[in-house]
Amino acid sequence: MARNKLAKFAELETFPNVIQPTMEEALGGFSELKGNWHTQIFKNKKPIVLELGCGMGEYTTALAKHFPENNYIGIDIKGARLYHGARLALKEKLTNVAFMKTRVEFIKSFFAPGEVSEIWLTFSDPQPKFAKKRLMSAFYNEIYASISKPEAIIHVKTDSLLLYDYTLDIVKKNKLNLLFETENLYQLPEIAPYLHEKTKYEGMAIGHGKPITYVNYSLSSKSQFVEPLNERAYRQYVRAYDAK
Ligand SMILES: C[S@@+](CC[C@H](N)C(=O)[O-])C[C@H]1O[C@@H](n2cnc3c(N)ncnc32)[C@H](O)[C@@H]1O
Repeated sequence: MARNKLAKFAELETFPNVIQPTMEEALGGFSELKGNWHTQIFKNKKPIVLELGCGMGEYTTALAKHFPENNYIGIDIKGARLYHGARLALKEKLTNVAFMKTRVEFIKSFFAPGEVSEIWLTFSDPQPKFAKKRLMSAFYNEIYASISKPEAIIHVKTDSLLLYDYTLDIVKKNKLNLLFETENLYQLPEIAPYLHEKTKYEGMAIGHGKPITYVNYSLSSKSQFVEPLNERAYRQYVRAYDAK
């Protein structure tokens, strides 16, 4: 492993705003944090917002600055990435930000039902070949619903048309409440300042001239979700995007 990465991992251990749970906690379905983020971490009762697959945590920290009335938690499996957001949050003395190094599949072990108010998915890997790995799927929406308030809002910002269309299909098939969607965010005459914030991957997409899409919807008190397509239909659907 590169020395730079090892140094980051060592420093990460010392950051008070980073939680690195054990595998036992992740797999065991329970951690002491579950249901206790307000009392143990934030020491306030502000709503909890997650950014899943936060990478370098730019959006987590930017949102925390735009909305001091909320608490933000960036989650990613890659410690060397979330190191950057955690360091920035400490430097800027942001007390409403934390980071957790874990897989999104395990978040039920760390949050109690109803503990989360909003979720952001920023430039998630579209995973065209593996529907089950895509953070936007029936499987993941069930996980999100199991830890969220009934009307929690999910935000999806992406340059992937596949992911954008699939999100809309999930919303339609499951009769969720679509709040807003655009195929080209920055062409709108006016957008909220926090939507102008850009992550590393967003910067790369813009550099390649790709339009940025954005969808948000409410989980609408649903606890069970279905996939819009079966496996075979899904493969055909992906092929249509490959041909574009
Ligand atoms: C394409 S990057 C986007 C990062 C950041 N959101 C951005 O816009 O720059 C996707 C990120 O999601 C993380 N990721 C993907 N699947 C994950 C999972 N199942 N659990 C946790 N992190 C995951 C990866 O480690 C990576 O940092």
